[in-house]
Amino acid sequence: MPIPIGIVGSGASESSAVVVLYDGMEKEVKNESLVLVRNKNGANVLAVCRGGLGINESLRTGAYTPGVAYAKSRRIPSSVKEYFLFKLQVIGEITENGISQNRMIIAPTSIVELFTDEDSPMHYLGKSELFIGHYWGKPNWKVPVLKEYINYHIGVFGVTGSGKSYLTRYEIIPLLRNAGYDVIVMDWKGSDYAPYFEPTFTLDQIKIDNMTVVRYFGALTKNFHYIDREENPVAAAVETALRQVEWRGRDPAESRQLVLQKAKQIILNSPGVKEDTKTLQLNRLESSFEIITEEEFERFLGTIEPWEIVQKVKEKGVVVIDMSKGIKEQKLSVFIAITKYLKRLMERKQTLNIALVIDEGPQYAPWQPRGIERDTTDMIIDLCALGRSYGLSIVILSQGMAGEIGLNAAVRRNLNTQFIGRIHPLDVEEAQKLAASYYISPETLLTLPEGHFYFLGRMNPSPIPLLISFQLR
Ligand SMILES: Nc1ncnc2c1ncn2[C@@H]1O[C@H](COP(=O)(O)OP(=O)(O)OP(=O)(O)O)[C@@H](O)[C@H]1O
Ligand SMILES: [Mg+2]
Repeated sequence: MPIPIGIVGSGASESSAVVVLYDGMEKEVKNESLVLVRNKNGANVLAVCRGGLGINESLRTGAYTPGVAYAKSRRIPSSVKEYFLFKLQVIGEITENGISQNRMIIAPTSIVELFTDEDSPMHYLGKSELFIGHYWGKPNWKVPVLKEYINYHIGVFGVTGSGKSYLTRYEIIPLLRNAGYDVIVMDWKGSDYAPYFEPTFTLDQIKIDNMTVVRYFGALTKNFHYIDREENPVAAAVETALRQVEWRGRDPAESRQLVLQKAKQIILNSPGVKEDTKTLQLNRLESSFEIITEEEFERFLGTIEPWEIVQKVKEKGVVVIDMSKGIKEQKLSVFIAITKYLKRLMERKQTLNIALVIDEGPQYAPWQPRGIERDTTDMIIDLCALGRSYGLSIVILSQGMAGEIGLNAAVRRNLNTQFIGRIHPLDVEEAQKLAASYYISPETLLTLPEGHFYFLGRMNPSPIPLLISFQLR
């Protein structure tokens, strides 16, 4: 049974109230404690305590009172006129089918009760077979989630060491599996997931399509010495060469020579181009190939095709792409090769039931994308839009929320469920927006312990954020 802790004070509304605590209850009630308000005006209301206050009338500050004089002379003023308050934020009215928006004013003098460890109020949030972690400080209170919003995409935010990868590994991936999704994990560092799941693929095993290889070469050579992103004849010649010669499955030096010679031929034979233009193009090709070394060719000799990876994930449930060995552009190229295939399937109206976990999100979709990052950012936005219709869930982890340290704004807008852990001081402005809407103070967000996250958005049956944590197994 919940235990009575106090009564609602004056000034309550339908969405918030203040509870005046019974004597001693200030030692029981904590920030984020869940309470039941027995609203005298109607139904029972579920609410969360956010922002406590201790008041002693004999010790008012801001003016020279007798209490202040007492304190100054090292004496303790009376605690007779001392009391404690907690602000309550209403989660909703409790109905038979879960929680609904509370529309009744909460009557002052309504009794407020605190849920004890044994009687979890989580079932009031609605019936669900899927859960994530547990409510803050209550290992037995499994937090329900709404399955139908999984493919409205998920964002996990928090500074380095706040527990994003752990949350994903211990909670989000199992949740996705329970919800019927197969999971492809892009493990940027290769240490967060690759050691814990099977099978894993390394970058050099995966076959990259020719167009993406050209984009990669373009990123290396400043677009073959043309203005960034401009279509250009040298890139076109290299792409055609890659298509026309059998360059995979050979010695890297040999395949590089083959492609280079073929591209030269294509430029020389292109009809209607002036001789000096051709010379310029050949020069750009030659100098680009000084950067595109054998080593670069070696990166692309993999033979496992994206469709095989998708087949594997359907078979095994989870597949990890270990991206630890490789430079950034190569990692992004592999990402593009795989997601291109997923995108094509969805464009053919195929439902995927696949989740794509992207750790270190800003590497793919930063605030201001450059080079290949623009392709990956656009790709993620497309995947988000298609995914809502064709069962692809995107899960993105990021150290920052907004601005320079954050995730691209257009991508972030697509993440309708968010887990927010300890934030970076640079994100304080972002945190203030949350603070204003939900009484969560920026200080709280700046100091959350590792493994603690506010859960908010579409997958959360509660309209206001809930503080969750999880246990390491
Ligand atoms: N629920 C938890 N309980 C206890 N410890 C935890 C919990 N979650 C995470 N930790 C601790 O926090 C550490 C950092 O977690 P994790 O690697 O997930 O951080 P991260 O947010 O992914 O950081 P980065 O951005 O650097 O990748 C872990 O090594 C673990 O010790
Ligand atoms: Mg991490």
